[in-house]
Parts: sequence; structure tokens; C-alpha cells
Amino acid sequence: MCGIFGYIGNQNAAEILLDGLQRLEYRGYDSSGIGVVTHDNQAITLKAPGKIQNLSSVVTSSSPQATVGIGHTRWATHGKPNEKNSHPHTDCLNKVLIVHNGIVENYADLKETLLKQGHKFSSDTDSEVIAHLIESSIADGCSFESAFVNAVKQLKGAQAVTALQSTTPSYIMTTRIGNAGGICIGHGNKEMFIASDITALVPLSDTITFLEPGHTAKVSQSNIVVHNAEGRLIRTKPQKVVHHVTNAGKGQFRHFMEKEIAEQPETILAAIGGRVDFRSNKIDLPEISLTKKQLATVNRIILVGMGTSLHAGMAGVHMIETLSGIPAVAENSSEFRYRNPVVSKDTLVISIGQSGETVDTLAAMEQAKLKQAKILTICNTDNSQATRLADGWIPMRAGLEIGVAATKTFLNTLVSLYLFASYLGNQTNYLADSFLNNSIESLVKLPDQIGQIVQEKKVYLDIATKTHEQTNLMYIGRGIQYPVALEGALKMKEISYTHAEGMSAGELKHGPIALIDNSLPVIALAPKDHFYDKMLNTMSEIKTRGGTIIAVATDGDTQISKIADYTIFVPACPYLLSPVVTSVPLQLLAYHSALARGCDIDQPRNLAKSVTVE
Ligand code: F6R
Repeated sequence: MCGIFGYIGNQNAAEILLDGLQRLEYRGYDSSGIGVVTHDNQAITLKAPGKIQNLSSVVTSSSPQATVGIGHTRWATHGKPNEKNSHPHTDCLNKVLIVHNGIVENYADLKETLLKQGHKFSSDTDSEVIAHLIESSIADGCSFESAFVNAVKQLKGAQAVTALQSTTPSYIMTTRIGNAGGICIGHGNKEMFIASDITALVPLSDTITFLEPGHTAKVSQSNIVVHNAEGRLIRTKPQKVVHHVTNAGKGQFRHFMEKEIAEQPETILAAIGGRVDFRSNKIDLPEISLTKKQLATVNRIILVGMGTSLHAGMAGVHMIETLSGIPAVAENSSEFRYRNPVVSKDTLVISIGQSGETVDTLAAMEQAKLKQAKILTICNTDNSQATRLADGWIPMRAGLEIGVAATKTFLNTLVSLYLFASYLGNQTNYLADSFLNNSIESLVKLPDQIGQIVQEKKVYLDIATKTHEQTNLMYIGRGIQYPVALEGALKMKEISYTHAEGMSAGELKHGPIALIDNSLPVIALAPKDHFYDKMLNTMSEIKTRGGTIIAVATDGDTQISKIADYTIFVPACPYLLSPVVTSVPLQLLAYHSALARGCDIDQPRNLAKSVTVE
């Protein structure tokens, strides 16, 4: 959440900052701003509410000439998303400029003290205190560098700060406190680029210095000097990274989400490719870095994640327990991190995250690490904080996902979990070879099966035309379809702003059935599995009470349409892989409903693609 970008070099800073912010817009898009220092030491800040294109018009008309500056795209925590609350924030003298990601948890106390000292605040944000703290130390005789360090020491909470002073434009200060967001510094030719995450540096540099939590860097055109929180000089070595350049255009699609749903056959193929040997029917996951011996000691698996990633983890529990016989649970990272969970060196914690930057999931990993658990991450982002924190990883291989609503990363996580569960079962001799043969055959069919689903549009348009004005929807499923119900409801909520609730179909009678009448459509996940008859019974009970049913069923099912008002058919698929096929219709249903409701599908209100604050 919130994107930070900084530049120092010989090029036009304003243009580079704008360009960089555009690549960080997924982190927050309610307002943005840049601050540059001109050659005659003037600080100029330009801000605009709304998306970066608004800032772009402001910057173009003012075209400030400078070769150093900092920029920010905001996801508001304290203070409305308007111009005055946009970053950069400045001190009273307009000499210190700061951009900030995270929350200054003790800002109220700091602000009170600063107000008493006579500082004047111009925004409602927590972040502005940082500029005044720096100003205060400078007034006491400190250099900008020391003043920055002094200010940072006073901040409580996980955050990242980047700052510039108009009278010392030869360097930018930047720091990372905890895990509220990374700071990566790209090395150029007598220029440096600072960014919240590596994706913003893709076209600019492949030589990156990553700041660790607690580290502060003084960044000048040709040099980076890093100190840790105790003030000790840290030798850092920039890393050469391989950027995976992905086509970032929408092509023939109206939205990135539509494109990303359509890409799923390809991305699943990418997840399987090279990991499955069709001749020997073996699965290999080289990046997990856990030996057969280490895997044999695992007696418990905990999957942690948030939102869509948690839903994938919940489906993963079924896969892992069935295919490896090892007890597994999925848990919301924000609960796990504060729960003092029972974890030992024989526990394997699998963190799931498309971004690898979700603050709660990183904290959950750290908590598990302290207890000596083995840590694996399933992540879509190379060189993310999660991949660097984990002992091993399974790359999702979903490619760049720009739509804020996760689609292809969800499917690729499911496939990655299935591959991992099969691999684990095989390495620990729990699975018979014959199972692996069948399972590989089913995996290989998936891209084609998903291809069939995404080609179908009419059924979703028809259903959305009839249901998009509803204010409430219910999603139900059993077993491995329960997390799919949760995920379907989440997709509907986030992009169409329709209240939708996902639940286990078995839970219905314990209260929620009271909601059923003819104004509440129920989406029932009823593929042909061992819960099928139970699902039919539940659907009948809903029907008897006047509910409208939209069923997701297996091709060739002739019985279901006698109960359901609408049926969406999906290809037959083994139980453990069935979420991969049943979740795609729910993505399409949400997409077409949001389209009919005229919503901003790729950048839904109040959301951001990566959640770096609690
Ligand atoms: C919903 C969605 C979110 C994320 C959640 C965790 O479409 O994308 O629920 O799954 O914010 O993010 P990651 O996966 O980056 O840890």
C-alpha cells in the first residue's frame, strides 16, 4: 500500500518519477504527488487527488526542471484522499520533503509535542510528523542525514520513508522499518532509482540493492551508504536480477481482469511446465530447497495468507492432507501472527501471497521463523520480501497481474499447491505411483478445460443482466468447494460492490437460511463429487423457500437444472483439482456483474494490489 519512488541523476526527475509511479499505481490510487529540488535549491511539490493521470496533467503543465526528486502514490490511512493529504509532505520551511508508506503508530503523541514546539501542520496525515521531526533536529544543529536518522528512531510501527532536503540535493535518505514495504534501489549510470518494489524498476535497472528492515540508506548519484538501526555501517552488495518482462497492455480486452481471466489456460500451463515429467510421471519442484530427509521430518503444515491467498490455502489443506497424510490447517496471517501458535522445527509453514509484500503474511513468516519452523512460500513475485524470507519457494508463474482482483494468481496457487502436495506425498512414499500417473493426466487437461470455460460469455451475461441489481448474494459449497464459495463471494464484493457471503453449505441451517427469500440469489457449487447429493438437498431446501439458485455443475449433469434456475456447466475434473475449474465461472460472474453495474473493475474503490499496512 502506497508506492514510493525516488530519483537522483542527470535526467528530468519529474518525468522519471511519474513514470515510476505509474508502475506502482497498483499499490494505491487515491492521490499522488512528486517533490523535486531545482538547481537553485527550490523545493517544488506537485500533487493531485485521484489516479496518476491527474498528477500527470499537473506535472506536464508545470514541467519543473530538476534532476532529483521523490514521488508517492497513496492509499489513504489517515486523512481523506485529497490534495492537501497527498505526499510529499514538507516541514514548516518547505525545505524537507518526505514520502511515506505504512503507519506512524505514535503520530498523535509526536504531533502534540511538535505543535507545542510551534510547528504548523498542513495535512491530516500521520506521515507529516516525519518532516517536522527532521526539521526539529536540523534546527538543533544536525545535518539532514543525522536528522533523518533521529526522526526515524522516534517512529513506532512498520513503515518505509524516503526524504530529500532542498539545501542538500546531492543525496536522498531512505529507510525501511519492519515489513510495511520494501525499499529497492536500482543502480544506473551515475543515477539511482528508489522504489517500493522491484516491479517499478523493471525498465530502469537490473542491479538492485535491497534494504533490510531497520536499515537506512544515504543514496547519491554513484553511491549508497547503508547503516543498520544501531548506526553500524553495513556492507551491501547490489544483486543482479532477471526481470521477467510481461506484456502489460490490455490487447483486445476491455479490462486487465478480463485479459487475466482469459490468460489462465496459458498461466496454468506455465505452472505445470518443466515440473512434471510425462515420461517418468514424476513431479519436481527444484526451488523448494527442502531435501527428502527434511520433508520426512515434517509432522504438521500450516498455510498462512490473506484474502484470496488464504482461500487458496484452505483448498490446499484438502490437497495436502489427502496426498501426503500430514495434518494441515490454513490460517489468516493477521490472526496467526498474534496468536503465539504452537510451531516447532518439524512444522512446515507455507506462506501464500501473489505480491510477497503483505505485511501480515510477512509477520506470520517471521513469527514461524523465530520458532524454527521450515518456511516455504508460494509467491508470484521474484525477489519479494516473502521469497527472501522463506527457506524455499514455489514460483506461481502467473505473470504480471494488474487487475486488483486476483484471478490467475488464485488458479496458479491452486495448481502449485496440488503439485506440492503430490510431490510431498511422493517424496515421503505416501502416494502410490499409480496415483501420480492419474494425477498428472488430470493436470495436463486443465488448460484446455479452462479454455472452454473462458470462451463462454453468454451464460454470464444472461445471469448478470438478471442479477446485477441485487444487493445481496450467497455462495455455498462443501469440502474443497467451500473455499471456492468464499473466493467467489470475495470477487463479487470487491469489484461489483455487491454484498456477497460465502459459506459452507452445511452451515446454512444454523442461521443463514433465515435470509432466504426470492430476493437472495444463491450460487451453489455442485460439481459431481461425494457431496453432490447433499448439495442437491440443500438446493431443494433453498428452492422450497423461494430462493433463486445459480448452480455450477459438471458437464452432462441432467438432474441439476430441475432444481436450479440457472446452471453453469464446467468440465469433469478430479475432486482435488475441481476448485481450478469451478472458480473460473465465479470470476466471470463477478466480472460481468461489475460491468453491468459500471464499476471501475481493474482498480476498485478503497483497494490496493498489495497490502503493506495492517
Ligand atoms: C483479492 C485479493 C486479495 C489478496 C490479499 C493478499 O482479489 O487479491 O484478497 O489475495 O490482499 O495479497 P497477497 O496475495 O499479495 O498476499
